[in-house]
Amino acid sequence: MGGTTGRNLTIWLATGVALLAFNPVARAVDAEGAQMLARQSGCFKCHSVDKKKDGPAWRDVAAKYAGRADAVAKLTHHLTSGEKAKFEDGHEEEHKIVKSTDAAKITNLVEWILSLPGGVKP
Ligand code: HEC
Repeated sequence: MGGTTGRNLTIWLATGVALLAFNPVARAVDAEGAQMLARQSGCFKCHSVDKKKDGPAWRDVAAKYAGRADAVAKLTHHLTSGEKAKFEDGHEEEHKIVKSTDAAKITNLVEWILSLPGGVKP
């Protein structure tokens, strides 16, 4: 009897840890690091968190991609490929490429942008 209870407890604990590890909300985004990389890359020349400039407000980007499984992949491509970006006045130019080759840092910036609606204003 006692042995079974102990094993069940172990299974429940293991399940809890696994759920935490795979819960995207529980995964910490390094907001400081993300903003530093954005600053170094000159992103704030055209973007801000909550105001539209030449580029869309990043909160609006987060809202647009909310719930989309391809969000991280799409934005990572956007920030690393120099794909064409359409400006308000209709002209197009290659979008700025983020100044880092560190995949973890780029993913962190993308995830920070996507986390913005529930985030704290910097
Ligand atoms: C010269 C101005 C400019 C700079 C600098 C710039 N962007 Fe943009 N960005 C734009 C414009 C314009 C768009 C809209 C593109 C479109 O909708 O075709 C855009 C779109 C985006 C989007 C949304 C893409 C989408 O699929 O909806 C993200 C995210 C983004 N930029 C992030 C960044 C980051 C991060 C940096 C710094 C590495 C950066 N931008 C630098 C002008 C700029």
